Amino acid sequence: MEKYILAPSILGANFIDLRKELDDTINAGTNWIHYDVMDNHFVPNLTFGPKVLADIKKAFPKLNVDIHFMVDIEGSMDEYFKPYLECKPKSMTMHIESLKKKRRIMDFITYCEINEVACMLAISPETKVVDLIPYLPHVDGVLVMTVRPGFGGQSFMPECVDKIKFLDGYKKDNNLEYIIEVDGGINAQTGAVCKLAGANMFVAGSYFYNAPANIKKEIVSDFTNEK
Ligand code: DX5
Ligand code: ZN
Repeated sequence: MEKYILAPSILGANFIDLRKELDDTINAGTNWIHYDVMDNHFVPNLTFGPKVLADIKKAFPKLNVDIHFMVDIEGSMDEYFKPYLECKPKSMTMHIESLKKKRRIMDFITYCEINEVACMLAISPETKVVDLIPYLPHVDGVLVMTVRPGFGGQSFMPECVDKIKFLDGYKKDNNLEYIIEVDGGINAQTGAVCKLAGANMFVAGSYFYNAPANIKKEIVSDFTNEK
């Protein structure tokens, strides 16, 4: 995998022009998108489900998709995730706050393993980073939310940066290899702060999609350069 990844969150895209938005994304030099699934239950907003993703993958089969589930799951994992797995995502992220309610954190990790999709666990700003410790040897990545999940276009919460530093230190001390992803209010400045703290995967919604097409390339190289 690349050392640094920028995954634009299509929640920030203009859906009337989604094909053009995705063409521009790929032309800017990233082959990733971040796909935010919200259920109006775990978070107070509703986005899209598997049908939109299936259509995207039909038109852009080589796109790497990072699915961020901000949902509560009532039935079986298979019932819920199967239609998404059929779209061949690269990674699936669930919030520990949601899984914890039903003691299903390890079940989700095992489920991803069986289905050969990268497993990521997300934490909201109010959740303590130490809650992730028992799972760190078993996951492919962690997602540190830098805004309250639910909406694009919010301001970065600098108090979350210490969590990135902790996770980076823990990774080195314990010889682990997980990805550290950040999501929420990410732009050139806040992204640089997160990179310095140890993040290596960046989600940008409004910053990326509000930028003109010719600037998007600079944004991608800014995030993915080795500095
Ligand atoms: C928020 C979502 C984010 C959102 C980011 O709950 O998880 O992925 O789309 O949007 P910006 O970059 O505008 O904060
Ligand atoms: Zn997200």
